[in-house]
Amino acid sequence: MAVVKADRASILSAASVLRAGGLVAFPTETVYGLGADATNGAAVARIFEAKGRPRFNPLIVHVPDLAAAETLAVFSGDARRLANAFWPGPLTMVLARKPGCGLSELVSAGLDTVAIRCPRHRVAAALLKAAGRPLAAPSANRSGHVSATEAEHVAADLGERVTMVLDDGATVLGLESTVLDLTGARAVLLRPGAAPAEEIEAVLGYELVRRLDGGERPVSPGQLESHYAPQARVRLDAKDVGADEALLAFGPEPVPGTPRAVINLSPAGDLVEAAANLFSALRRLDAGGPRGIAVMRIPDTGLGEAINDRLRRAAAPRP
Ligand code: TXA
Ligand code: MG
Repeated sequence: MAVVKADRASILSAASVLRAGGLVAFPTETVYGLGADATNGAAVARIFEAKGRPRFNPLIVHVPDLAAAETLAVFSGDARRLANAFWPGPLTMVLARKPGCGLSELVSAGLDTVAIRCPRHRVAAALLKAAGRPLAAPSANRSGHVSATEAEHVAADLGERVTMVLDDGATVLGLESTVLDLTGARAVLLRPGAAPAEEIEAVLGYELVRRLDGGERPVSPGQLESHYAPQARVRLDAKDVGADEALLAFGPEPVPGTPRAVINLSPAGDLVEAAANLFSALRRLDAGGPRGIAVMRIPDTGLGEAINDRLRRAAAPRP
C-alpha cells in the first residue's frame, strides 16, 4: 500500500487503479472513503473483504455532479431541490435505482434503491472525474473501528488491504454525511450527519420523518433486507438438487441432480466473485419461478461469512 500526496499525477494513477478494479482510499469533506468502481461487482466485493464486515450493507455511491446522479437513480422534485441546495456537499440521498444503470447489485446489497452523494472536496471531485465511473465508498476503516479522518489512520487500519491512499491531510468535517431516504412521499432521516436536519427541513418546507433505530443508529441493513427474500423456498447446504428446484452452485463440482436452472456463483470457488454475483443470481433464479432454490455449501471464511449471512436470511421462515 502506498500513501501518496494527492496531486495531479497521483490522482491519475489512482483513477487507473480504480478502473482496473482496485481499491483506493481518498479524502472527502466528511471522512476518508474506501473507494471502488461501483459498476464492478468484484471491486465492490473487495471493499467488504477489506473492511472485514460480517454482512453486506448497502454502500454510498459517489458522483461528480447531479447529471451523473440522474443517469443512476430516479429524482423526485424534493430530491432535485435538495441536490441543488446541498451538492456538492455532505448529503446522501437514497433513491430508486434506474433500470440498466450499470451499478453492481452488491453496492445496493440487493435492494432496488441506491444511496448517492456528490462530495465537496477538490481531491474527491478530481478523482471522480479522472476515473469516469461512479465510486462506491464507505468510510475507510475496518468494520467496528472509528471512521478515518486522516490518511495515516487509513494506512494503520487497512494496511495492505488497500492499494493506494491519497493523502490530503485531515478532513474538514470529520463526521459522515447525512443520509435521507427519498423513495417515499416524505423524506426520511436515516442517519444524522454533517448536513443539519434543520437546514434540510428549511429547503423541503416540512419536517423530516425520523426513522432512527433507538435514536442514534441508522435503520439496520437487516431490516432493509427482510422483504427482499426470494419467493422460492431457499434450502441451504444442499448435497443434491430436485427437478423442481433451481441450483445456486459454488465451486467446480455442482451437486448431483437435474435442476430447472443453475447459476454458479464462482466455478473457481472464488469468494470475491461469488459475492459479486450473489444478489443478481438470487433474483435471476427466483424469476424462473422454481419451487425452491437449493444452495450449495459456501465456506464461512473471508467474504463467505457475509455471503452466508445473506443466504441464511433468505432461507429464514417468513412471517
Ligand atoms: O460521509 C460519508 O457518507 C462517507 C464518505 C466516505 O462519503 N461514506 C459513508 O459511506 O459513510 P457508508 O457506505 O459507510 O454509509 C452508508 C450508509 C449506511 O448508514 C447505510 O445503511 C446507508 O448509508 N445506505 C446506503 N445505501 C442505502 C440504501 N439503499 N437504503 C438505505 N440506506 C442505505
Ligand atoms: Mg463507517
